[in-house]
Amino acid sequence: MARVLSGIQPSGDLHLGNYFGAVRNWVQDQDVADAYFCIVDLHALTLSIDPEVLRRQTLDAACVLLAAGLDPQRCTLFVQSHVPAHQQLTWLLECTATMGELRRMTQFKDKGGGQESVRVGLFTYPVLMAADILLYDADQVPVGDDQRQHLELTREIAGRFNHRYGETFTIPSATIPKVGARVMDLQAPERKMSKSSGSPLGTVGIMDPPAEIIRKVKKAVTDTDGIVAWDPAGKPGVTNLLSLLGAATGQDPTTLAEDYQRYGDLKGAVSEALIEALAPLQARYAELQADLSGVIDILRAGSDQASSVASSTYLRAADAVGLLRP
Ligand code: TRP
Repeated sequence: MARVLSGIQPSGDLHLGNYFGAVRNWVQDQDVADAYFCIVDLHALTLSIDPEVLRRQTLDAACVLLAAGLDPQRCTLFVQSHVPAHQQLTWLLECTATMGELRRMTQFKDKGGGQESVRVGLFTYPVLMAADILLYDADQVPVGDDQRQHLELTREIAGRFNHRYGETFTIPSATIPKVGARVMDLQAPERKMSKSSGSPLGTVGIMDPPAEIIRKVKKAVTDTDGIVAWDPAGKPGVTNLLSLLGAATGQDPTTLAEDYQRYGDLKGAVSEALIEALAPLQARYAELQADLSGVIDILRAGSDQASSVASSTYLRAADAVGLLRP
């Protein structure tokens, strides 16, 4: 069985882009792969975040992922900072990656914007991500399109390390999901739905109550020609609604257009489908919230399992570079 690893930031309310673009695919990966999923709390420290908020959101992310269908019997769910090898391997990889490589990362350029006050951790972010992946000998890494460059860097670093010190790491491949990979902002359908850079009205949270979903979908930007059609370039707003409807119902979004004559009807169908798709998830989430100690137990078991894999990979790498064993 292939080993799959992916990570998600504990950035608070996950939205439909996270769910349809990533998390829902992870749920399927559990059955076909040896799957590891990591809540990357250390990555969250690269930008300003309140300590209490970080702690709360980390646990909350675990609840959301479990509610969405990650099953601790079928995958390993853990928190990055609970497995010390992530930070240990990062140093070895920082001594493998180059300044030039990291400077070319578009995410750093976007978020760092060339300011002097930018955190060093934001610069080395992709190296920590490489450690997340390489520690588990991951064959496949399901990520969104925006993470493709980080995956390329991971492959580069792993290859260089192997070349310099002998075969140590498995070279991973990115798997970019085919379905629902891109959920766009309802208010600005040419932009990806995003908690940090999107508009609140254009971002639908997984835990949004039905009235909120109806309101946001109703306000979604369309266009003025009044024709329901699948046309990503010419009609990004309508196309986004169709693709949400497709994602929520499991139907082919490109043919759904035929069923609707008016934007209002399409929007009604979209909110209904989203409410129905999210209801079971929201119910499970409420149950988990009522038993947080159970969630903590799941994370503890996850980090035990993850640590046993990660610490042996780290040792292999430490031996390879010539660190004296304690
Ligand atoms: N950088 C990823 C994101 O922002 C999150 C992440 C961290 C990740 N470590 C990872 C994804 C390892 C895949 C594998 O989405």
